[in-house]
Amino acid sequence: MTNSDFPGSELTSALSEPITVSWQSPSNIALVKYWGKTGRQLPVNSSLSITLSKAFTETSLTALPRKTKGSVDLDFWFEGTQNAAFGERMTKYLQSVTDIFPWLAQVNLKLETHNTFPHSAGIASSASAFSALALCLCSLDTELNGIMLDETEFRQKASYVARLGSGSACRSVFPGFTVWGKSKALTGSSDLLAVPVTEFHPVFSTLRDSILLVNKKEKAVSSTEGHKRMIGHPFAEARIKQATKNTADLLEALKSGDKKTFIRIVENEALTLHALMMTSDEGFMLMYPETVRIINRIQEIRKETGLDICFTLDAGPNVHLLYFEDQIEQVNKLIVEDLLKNNEQNMRIDDFYGKGPVKIG
Ligand code: PMV
Repeated sequence: MTNSDFPGSELTSALSEPITVSWQSPSNIALVKYWGKTGRQLPVNSSLSITLSKAFTETSLTALPRKTKGSVDLDFWFEGTQNAAFGERMTKYLQSVTDIFPWLAQVNLKLETHNTFPHSAGIASSASAFSALALCLCSLDTELNGIMLDETEFRQKASYVARLGSGSACRSVFPGFTVWGKSKALTGSSDLLAVPVTEFHPVFSTLRDSILLVNKKEKAVSSTEGHKRMIGHPFAEARIKQATKNTADLLEALKSGDKKTFIRIVENEALTLHALMMTSDEGFMLMYPETVRIINRIQEIRKETGLDICFTLDAGPNVHLLYFEDQIEQVNKLIVEDLLKNNEQNMRIDDFYGKGPVKIG
């Protein structure tokens, strides 16, 4: 599948009135991490994530009549105000997908977007933002050009388009567990778009993620820079092998309901991601002492109590505490009385297995 599998067409007649489409799309957290890319935003290894529910972006995209054809003309609004820095990134992205949506150069665009989670909370918002925008683009394509895709084709195209904005965003287009990157363990998996994992034990749909906020500051090293540091990384080859095996083993664990293997792989992946950062040329560290304290406590408590809890980390200092619905009360007590007891921020976001994006209006 390539861009030419999604042929775009220009508008045959000028737009006479504005058309708006809106989508709500959630964030996702990787359980097997995508770290390192090549070509046009292609992953060097397969990744597996869970789409969340409460942390989402709501985006409205309006196409307005325009007299002359030209480069992308975008009026960008983030949380009610015009935002030049984000607007510039979005304009660049839209310009890069004019081969798929040629009409982008024939209309004026207004993009309004907001998140349900605080922007400065240190939670990756690019997955929800780019998946919401990609879904809007695909919907506008239908409205403007009458391109009718069935539900599966529509989601596939949206995932492909989202990937070009932010790799991890391609996984947010689907509910629950998804895989991005070719894996022998999952038929139909691809480097170009994510595919949903349909075979999993029902216990995993009760998975919860309480995000324990350690630090809300902007990261010292961006993900874009982190991906670059995997080029020529001394452990790159071993990492690709490890991610390939972890994807296959995690798929198996999801299928059989094997929580112990799930926990082992998820923590191995989180620590590997940060170890790769530390061991890259010009190594860097995104964990804080508080991150290390919390993850050590999670491992100790698991040993002491036998609770099925584990942690994962994104490219940042905040800890995602994963657990299952049947232990919600014990875990809640644990967060309040232990994990966040002496934490300065004392802030958490309780999220859970999500059902995927929703079209609004
Ligand atoms: O999609 P990006 O370029 O923001 O990269 C995301 C990388 C991680 O969040 C660290 C891992 C992942 O698979 O989501």
